[in-house]
Amino acid sequence: MKIGVIGAGFIGRAVAELALAAGHEVMLSNSRGPQTMSSVPSGIPGVQVGSAEDAARFGDVVLVAIPLEHYRSVPAKWLEGKVVMDANNYYPNRDGHIPALDRFETTTSRLLAEHLPHAQVVKVFNAIFAPDLTQDARPHGASDRRALPVAADDTAAKAQVIRLLDELGFDAVDAGGLDDSWRFERGKPAYCIPLDKAGLEAALAKAERTVELPAVERTRR
Ligand SMILES: NC(=O)c1ccc[n+]([C@@H]2O[C@H](COP(=O)([O-])OP(=O)(O)OC[C@H]3O[C@@H](n4cnc5c(N)ncnc54)[C@H](OP(=O)(O)O)[C@@H]3O)[C@@H](O)[C@H]2O)c1
Repeated sequence: MKIGVIGAGFIGRAVAELALAAGHEVMLSNSRGPQTMSSVPSGIPGVQVGSAEDAARFGDVVLVAIPLEHYRSVPAKWLEGKVVMDANNYYPNRDGHIPALDRFETTTSRLLAEHLPHAQVVKVFNAIFAPDLTQDARPHGASDRRALPVAADDTAAKAQVIRLLDELGFDAVDAGGLDDSWRFERGKPAYCIPLDKAGLEAALAKAERTVELPAVERTRR
């Protein structure tokens, strides 16, 4: 499969490494253009680089992993009909205040989905610290395999991403639709805590809409 990645930071690169190791083709992109990423392929052998538009066109599935404040710049036209994986989180200190999120009226992934009305948005990879992606990946069936939460409105898109997660080294817990995805946003019990499937299900069930837990070590982003 071809995976386009919009955002060549910690998360984009970690997912790229896992996806390449699993045999997929990957194109990374950033906002400044591929000329600023000339050293990337030597660090991640096999990866391609391009503009955000290039990555959106390239991917059968496209990951968005950028600071949330820039979500409206994601090239909607090239994502029509595609599955878009959304790793973004909301950090008001970084992203500025988004009143509807501050009032708990919407979710970060619903905002992206509203910007991409013809794509199938799947929230995934937001609730794991980037270095843990490569460190915690395990083969299918491993006894210490970590589970990650996944939410989407489109059942087929969600199933495709759950299969991809399995290839990349993680179990998945279906956390419902995009309007339910607040259960694993920043500050919830499931956020960036290593858990197996049962532990993740319990953490998702424990989440309260307006309660944000204090940040714990290694959950800064
Ligand atoms: N780091 C983590 O552990 C972690 C874990 C889970 C989720 N997340 C979330 O995932 C997202 C990315 O985090 P990160 O830590 O990977 O960020 P990062 O290391 O700061 O990298 C951000 C990347 O996004 C690119 N970018 C920014 N605006 C863009 C735009 N408009 N179009 C295309 N590319 C753009 C940047 O490129 P330029 O420099 O060229 O702008 C950079 O390559 C954030 O929402 C974060 O909260 C992070």
